[in-house]
Amino acid sequence: MTVLGIETSCDDTSAAVYDTEKGLLSLVISSQMEHAEFGGVVPELASRAHLSLILPVIDQALSKANLILDDIDSIAVTAGPGLVGSLLVGVSAGKAIALARNIPLIGVHHIEGHIYSNFIAEPFPPYPSIALVVSGGHTELIMMKAPLEYEVLGKTRDDAAGEAFDKIAKLLGLGYPGGPAIEKKAHGKNSSFVDFPISKVPGYEFSFSGLKTAVKVYVNGKEEAFVRCHLADILASFQQAVVQALVEKTLKALTDYHVDTLLLAGGVAANRALRDRVSAEACRLGFTLFEPPIIYCTDNAAMIARAGHERLMSGITSPLSLSPEARLPLRGAKG
Ligand code: KG4
Ligand code: ZN
Repeated sequence: MTVLGIETSCDDTSAAVYDTEKGLLSLVISSQMEHAEFGGVVPELASRAHLSLILPVIDQALSKANLILDDIDSIAVTAGPGLVGSLLVGVSAGKAIALARNIPLIGVHHIEGHIYSNFIAEPFPPYPSIALVVSGGHTELIMMKAPLEYEVLGKTRDDAAGEAFDKIAKLLGLGYPGGPAIEKKAHGKNSSFVDFPISKVPGYEFSFSGLKTAVKVYVNGKEEAFVRCHLADILASFQQAVVQALVEKTLKALTDYHVDTLLLAGGVAANRALRDRVSAEACRLGFTLFEPPIIYCTDNAAMIARAGHERLMSGITSPLSLSPEARLPLRGAKG
């Protein structure tokens, strides 16, 4: 079976082809640059850009896979959560192709896609495993008990980790997306320069708005020249606080649930400081770590095609009345 995946939930227009026998055949991602000057994604610009990019991106994914539309057995598309105008472009394209070719349509939850970025290249993770999904819109710990079976253990009460990176980058004039810019500046710098607070929310929940405010208060309380001079150390300290908060809760979940496999997923999982810290903890504590290649961490259609393939193999498809949802709860195979 060959699945064409489509992802347009935010500001990346992406298409990919995944095949049962041969695995991932192609992946094309077109990242929209028009948002950089605004310090964040402008929804109206994003949906218009998706509209002009979606067909060329799908064509490229097919031609890279050496296929034509006739060879595709199913369409998997991100149905939510995300920016509704952006989702609408991908869902409409997916529905049109499914209708015209008379092939099944599969709506995929964006977080399910991120989790399945760990299942693109073999070896695949065992069950049960716990996924730390960290992106611009989500920060969640999710238990995966079986294929397509999820239990959300905890999520952020306010900002997502990626959102915190983006907001601090905007505050300090580093542009958008903030995560890669902060990581680059902070690399090798003094992460103990400022002792930023780690939130003490209970259980497996997260909170990053207090940290964001603490950085703002710190920066506003210093001379501009001091901030400029110590910018990299301040950013390294902020990054370290985010990593510490993520790692503390993740280790607690692994221990409490007696699970020994951790999956990283989402754009922030591309962060070198987070990956290094989690790898070190995996060695120290003896759990198995799956971390997807960076191209599969940030938004991409390979993860959507892969998750769609899993749904197809379980006989779960969506009606042609599928409509995008800005807010969509994560539901597994059992609903
Ligand atoms: O998964 P993703 O591409 O889109 C969402 O689903 O939100 O994640 C994008 C987020 C942005 O907030 C971006 O700043 C962050 O991931 N990000 C990073 C890195 N690369 C992307 N954060 C920290 N370090 C990185 N290297
Ligand atoms: Zn994402």
